[in-house]
Amino acid sequence: MGFGKMGSSLISGGIRSGVLKRDEVCIYDLDSERVKFAESEGLSIAKSLDDVVDSDSLIIAVKPKDLTDLLSSAKASLIERRPLLISIVAGIRIEKLQSMLDDVQMRIVRVMPNIAASVNEAISAYCTSKSVRKEDLEFINSLLCGVGKAVFVDNEDELDIITGVSGSGPAYFSLMMGAMEKVAIERGIERNLARMMVAQTCRGAATMILERGISPEELIRMVASPGGTTEEALKVMEERKFSLIVSDAVSAAIEKSRRINR
Ligand SMILES: NC(=O)c1ccc[n+]([C@@H]2O[C@H](COP(=O)([O-])OP(=O)(O)OC[C@H]3O[C@@H](n4cnc5c(N)ncnc54)[C@H](OP(=O)(O)O)[C@@H]3O)[C@@H](O)[C@H]2O)c1
Repeated sequence: MGFGKMGSSLISGGIRSGVLKRDEVCIYDLDSERVKFAESEGLSIAKSLDDVVDSDSLIIAVKPKDLTDLLSSAKASLIERRPLLISIVAGIRIEKLQSMLDDVQMRIVRVMPNIAASVNEAISAYCTSKSVRKEDLEFINSLLCGVGKAVFVDNEDELDIITGVSGSGPAYFSLMMGAMEKVAIERGIERNLARMMVAQTCRGAATMILERGISPEELIRMVASPGGTTEEALKVMEERKFSLIVSDAVSAAIEKSRRINR
C-alpha cells in the first residue's frame, strides 16, 4: 500500500534479491503515475483496497499524513483478515497503529529502511508488536537482509533516532556530495567525472569503515597529515562548526520523528 519512492525501492530490491516473487506482489497506490510504473515493472495492481488487504503481508508505505485515511478505509477488512502489517511510515509507533485499528491485536512490524534498498544497500532497523510469529520474523528479516543490512531493535524509541540517522541519512551525504561536486565542476572538472569521483570517494570511505573496522576519527588521521591539504579543509569545516551543524541537523530529524507520533 503506497508504491512511492520507498515502497517501490523495497519491493524492487526484494524481487531482485529473490525474497519476493514478482507474481506474488500486488500494488495499491492512489497515484496513477505510480500505478503505471508498477505495471511497467510487471507487477499486478490491486483493483480495490480490499483486494490488497487480502494478502499474507502488507507493506504500509504511505506518508504519515495519509495514514489515517488509508487505515480507516481498510480497517474493517484488516481486522477481519489480520495480515502481517509492515509499516515503514516514519514516526508512527506500533501502539499508535494498533490504536488506529481499534486496539485489536495485530501482527505489526515497524521498519525504518532507507532509500538505498533500491540498490540492495539499505540499512534497516525494525521492531515488532508482541503478537508477531516466528515465521513473520523470518520473513521480515529475509526481506530486509535481501535489500541490504538489517538490525532488530528491542526498544522502539531507538527507531526515531535511527530515522534521523540512517532513514534520512542518504540525503545528508548527498548534500555534502552535491557541494563537493559543485566545487570540482567550478574548478574545471568535467561534470560526470566530478560526480563519479565524489560518489566513489564516499563509497571508498564507507567501505574502509565497514570492511576494515576503521573508525571515522582514524580514517581522518590516515588522510590528514599535519600541514597538508586535508588539514586545511578540515580547519575551515570546524571553524564554521561543521560537526555541530551535523549534530543539530540529525537531532532535528530525530525530534521531528518523535513529534509525528504525537
Ligand atoms: N523516502 C525515503 O527515503 C524514506 C525512508 C524511510 C522511510 N520512508 C517512509 O516511507 C513512507 C513513504 O515515503 P515515500 O518517500 O515513498 O513517499 P511517496 O513517494 O510520496 O510515496 C507514497 C505513495 O503512496 C500513495 N498514497 C497516498 N495515500 C494512499 C492511500 N490511501 N492508498 C494508497 N496509496 C496512497 C501516494 O500517492 P499520492 O502521491 O497521490 O499521495 C504515493 O504514490 C513514508 O511514511 C516515509 O516516512 C521514506
